[in-house]
Amino acid sequence: MSGFNYEKSLKYSDLDLIYEQCSGPGGLKLAEFMAVKMGLVPGGRMLDVGCNRGWQTCFLAKEFGLNVVGLDPWLDRISGEPMVEHLRRNAEEWGVEQSVLALGLGVPETKLASSSFDYVYSTTALEMIRITDGPTGYLDCLKEVERVLKPGGIFGLGEPMHLERDLPADLEPYVNQTEYPWKECFQSISRTASAVEEAGLAIVEAGYAPDADQWWREYAAHDPFCKEKPEEDPKAIEVDGGRWVSFGYVIATKET
Ligand SMILES: C[S@@+](CC[C@H](N)C(=O)[O-])C[C@H]1O[C@@H](n2cnc3c(N)ncnc32)[C@H](O)[C@@H]1O
Repeated sequence: MSGFNYEKSLKYSDLDLIYEQCSGPGGLKLAEFMAVKMGLVPGGRMLDVGCNRGWQTCFLAKEFGLNVVGLDPWLDRISGEPMVEHLRRNAEEWGVEQSVLALGLGVPETKLASSSFDYVYSTTALEMIRITDGPTGYLDCLKEVERVLKPGGIFGLGEPMHLERDLPADLEPYVNQTEYPWKECFQSISRTASAVEEAGLAIVEAGYAPDADQWWREYAAHDPFCKEKPEEDPKAIEVDGGRWVSFGYVIATKET
């Protein structure tokens, strides 16, 4: 049974397409969950950090009436073009090209003006920085979020996380994948919320998403890379069986 009452995301029902255009568990359900937790108000200005192909960006612009700047520094690993080119095309397809701006940049060096966003949103992006730049690099990214957020603004961080327990020994070989091993990317909600506080933001709410298991199962069944390599992430999810892998969220504010 679902723990959250989805409305807007249920209009988009092609899970193969959603997981082709989003990257990570949850897809548009995750975006709606975060939007509700963040209390988005139409007309607000949002920064989406690590937008990838930008389906969540377009969904948030269209369904919640926001102006969104999507940031993504990477190239598409299939076509080699900048991810933000997908966002530009997707914004036209979604009819939100007037309210979406795509920038090929990343945190912590965004060059954006201080105190310029009502909302900063980031899902399934910053945890990878723990591998490339360590805990200090992760903190620098959060400090950049704090810098660009307006006083009174809201930060919504959604990340694959592990539950508050040690990694089960039998799971270890399955979460030690190459390039971005979950074993090193994933943190617990308490440690993640502490890092957000250390960056100068005040926690409004933090927890594990009630539908984390459903989002991971959908990801395993519909993500194109999971379909191609069922022995990698889908196998890890199966072996884990809900013991360690989860998905956490932190809603925080910049106090006035
Ligand atoms: C797994 S995708 C998640 C995309 C999207 N938020 C979603 O949930 O579908 C992570 C994205 O984070 C981006 N990323 C990596 N390092 C980043 C950085 N330093 N700043 C912003 N984005 C970054 C990558 O380019 C990648 O497209």
